[in-house]
Amino acid sequence: NYFCNILMDKDSLKKIVSHSKEYGFIFPSSEIYEGLNAIYDYAHNGTLLKNNIREYWWKSMVQLNDDIVGIDSAIFMHPKTWVASGHVDAFNDPLIDNKDSKKRYRADVLIEEHIEKLNLKIQKEINKAEKRFKEKFDKKQFIETSPRVKQILSSVEDIKSKMVSAFENDDLTQVKNLIDELEIKCPISGTCNWTEVRQFNLMFKTKLGASEDSSMDLYLRPETAQGIFLNYLNVQKTSRMKIPFGIAQTGKAFRNEIVARQFIFRMREFEQMEMQFFIQPGSQSKWFDIWKKKRLDWHLNIGIDDSSFRYHDHDKLAHYADAACDIEFLFPFGFKELEGIHSRTDFDLKSHEELSGKKIQYFDPVLDKNYIPYVVETSIGLDRMFLAILTYSFKMETLDDGSTRNVMSIPKQLAPNKLAFLPLLKKDGLPEYTSKIMKDFKHKINIVYDEKDAIGRRYRRQDAIGTPYCITIDHQTLEDDTFTIRDRDSMEQKRIKIDQLKKIVEDELTLKSLLKNLNN
Ligand code: GAP
Repeated sequence: NYFCNILMDKDSLKKIVSHSKEYGFIFPSSEIYEGLNAIYDYAHNGTLLKNNIREYWWKSMVQLNDDIVGIDSAIFMHPKTWVASGHVDAFNDPLIDNKDSKKRYRADVLIEEHIEKLNLKIQKEINKAEKRFKEKFDKKQFIETSPRVKQILSSVEDIKSKMVSAFENDDLTQVKNLIDELEIKCPISGTCNWTEVRQFNLMFKTKLGASEDSSMDLYLRPETAQGIFLNYLNVQKTSRMKIPFGIAQTGKAFRNEIVARQFIFRMREFEQMEMQFFIQPGSQSKWFDIWKKKRLDWHLNIGIDDSSFRYHDHDKLAHYADAACDIEFLFPFGFKELEGIHSRTDFDLKSHEELSGKKIQYFDPVLDKNYIPYVVETSIGLDRMFLAILTYSFKMETLDDGSTRNVMSIPKQLAPNKLAFLPLLKKDGLPEYTSKIMKDFKHKINIVYDEKDAIGRRYRRQDAIGTPYCITIDHQTLEDDTFTIRDRDSMEQKRIKIDQLKKIVEDELTLKSLLKNLNN
């Protein structure tokens, strides 16, 4: 059953990936040079959707909360930042070398690839059986009953559980033993002559300055949070904030990820939306619970069913945290982390104070004393939120007349385009009338114009990019100023006038209509 789900899920992820490319959401980066692993570019519709998600996050943090201010710090930061934050010492993944080829690999990638080969063997068995049984073939039943498939599946399960246990216990010898036990060979030398497994830092290094002697090693930031910690004093003073207060920021982060797969779920260059909330020491458990709830409410407010989310409280904590919880989302490959809420204590500010020698304290007028504030952070990947929305929205529907359509039921206020204007014909003054009414909406929301092909095909195109409403202008419009509005999800149509459309835009399509339901 588990494997059956994985196969189906792989199919649905594949469909999302190809739909994203075909309809201008996401392109593989540098495709003409065969792409770059785990790096993606956002196309027109993808950029609009991404901007809308970012804006929903930013406004819900900074505009709706009087006690949160924003910043936009640089990607490059002084290298000591990452010593203080612990990333130089503790932000690692495991690495192994083949002694014959002298090639270096990520130990868990080798194991994952071995698992992938076993999965391919299963796929081969399925293809063979499909050929033999033709129309009578039942894939699910075959997976559940074929002894060969069941045997491979059980090996996959066994390897996975050994791998998880080794990594959870930070036991690199156990990882090496697993590679030996599976007789994993180096793809270049073909031998199993491996070194021990060692840790590999995930930060990307670069250099500041032109000449070798005067240049300084820099890192591309692996999280945006440190930009907030380094600016804490400046922000607190210039914005005259009193504890408790928060600083929010969105921006790129970079990680040389080991298992960089699953489309935009785990990327090497991605965007984070983080908020650090500075509080009195001792109040962290209260604020941790408040922010856990607030963040889940933010997700539910866009209309995704609550069965797609769950909390996952961490037993094993990162080096900086005294409590941590993930909000997990049901992605096509199962429940996985979408957002993290971390109680970071005074770890970061204290380390920066120690390493920089500069006092980073807050004078609390109520308690009449100085202290280093504690921090509760909320951290979500913008690209991961994008994938969550695609997962929730993408549907392949069979209609009553037997035809099919691909529809993206993107929450309306976040949809790339809110309205599509479609003159029924390219003549008789219909395009001119259409451009005239479009002017009433352009300054407020993103809209599109399409006059090519039959109206049915145009509706399908808009369904596929998630446009909530299509507006069709026909000959009757010229007589009585009414036009047809078609709902993306129900496909129902009715005739309305421009004032009614303006009200629909205001009530259902603006970000304001989404933000006003958030209970801040
Ligand atoms: N400042 C805390 C921090 O960075 P994290 O759990 O490592 O915590 C926070 O990352 C969020 O960033 C994750 O919940 C995820 O949404 C996103 N994220 C992390 N690594 C990512 C990657 N390689 N690709 C895409 N998103 C990623």
